Amino acid sequence: MRQAGRYQPEYRALRERYTLLDLCRTPELCAQVTLLPVRQLGVDAAILFSDITLPLLGMGVPFEVVEGVGPVIEAPLRTAADVDALRPFEPERDVPFVLDAIRLVRREAAVPLIGFAGAPFTLASYLIEGRGSRELLLTKRMLHEAPDVWASLMQRLTDATLAYLRAQVTAGVQVVQIFDSWVGALAPRDYEAAVFPHMRRLFDGLRATGVPAIHFGTGTAGLLPLMTRAGGDVIGVDWRVRLGDAWEHIGHAGIQGNLDPAALLARFGVVATAAREILADAGGRPGHIFNLGHGVLPQTPVDHLRRLVDLVHDSFLVAHQQPADARSRP
Ligand code: CP3
Repeated sequence: MRQAGRYQPEYRALRERYTLLDLCRTPELCAQVTLLPVRQLGVDAAILFSDITLPLLGMGVPFEVVEGVGPVIEAPLRTAADVDALRPFEPERDVPFVLDAIRLVRREAAVPLIGFAGAPFTLASYLIEGRGSRELLLTKRMLHEAPDVWASLMQRLTDATLAYLRAQVTAGVQVVQIFDSWVGALAPRDYEAAVFPHMRRLFDGLRATGVPAIHFGTGTAGLLPLMTRAGGDVIGVDWRVRLGDAWEHIGHAGIQGNLDPAALLARFGVVATAAREILADAGGRPGHIFNLGHGVLPQTPVDHLRRLVDLVHDSFLVAHQQPADARSRP
């Protein structure tokens, strides 16, 4: 998830001097921000500080990241000609600073580094709508009314995402996460026809990298069996579904999730109860990565996050020390 950000005073201080894209484009700053939550919270992995929109820099799509809004594309894609004008993304040429940042973090981090990319559907939704949108009406319209244009766009974005994640692995990331943040807006049959084949190709292509892949989306309760079939060693879910119920649909894969980030704004007792419920739902089964169901909100108290990490670590230790204690009893 987004684990570095505005809830951290150190991050806010950096953002007074640099834009988000400046931070992403300066390897030393990027590495520093990536490692902030690791040092501050004691989390078990770092996620590269970046944004899903970075590949658009190389594809010839100007955009800016607006505070409180997210990425905003200057000239949204609407026609076949717009799609044909996209340039292929070449990570070493277009975003060498991301790969440098990865190498820097790997030299300094004591925990594994997660690389990431936006999934083709979620990237397509930004390209077509021009910015984040709840209904994704223009995206759905293209998908239904111009299936050939849609397929061509998804093909190009799948190629870009594959190239990007392969380059990140070569530079040193040890896990990749694919963010299909807005795919929950789709009907299952539309996902199956218009998104699934591309996700299948993406995960099939990633297998050769040898690193595990996390497949994340929000609002995906009705899509979990299809998303699992599309691929991913771990499926990430948000709080709109009970973890135990989600796992039944996911079956053999691991699961990541799924605390509501808004729960962290309440007093810590509320956070602890919600976290323990998730841990109980997972029932100690191997393959659960405790996480929030989406990114950390800017209003979140740092101390709540720190205590949450401790609580999860303690619960793990208790669960795994019990057999040893039992053996040592007379
Ligand atoms: O934890 C980390 O260090 C990684 C940080 C990270 C960012 N973007 C930095 C960022 C990650 C994993 C992303 C991915 C991303 N970007 C996604 C997929 C993950 C998700 O949350 O679903 C999406 C949909 C985006 C697009 C985007 N960029 C949005 C929706 C926003 C938020 C707008 C806002 O102001 O609230 C951004 C901006 C952004 N990217 C911030 C951060 C830390 C917000 C803070 C800032 O503007 O400095």
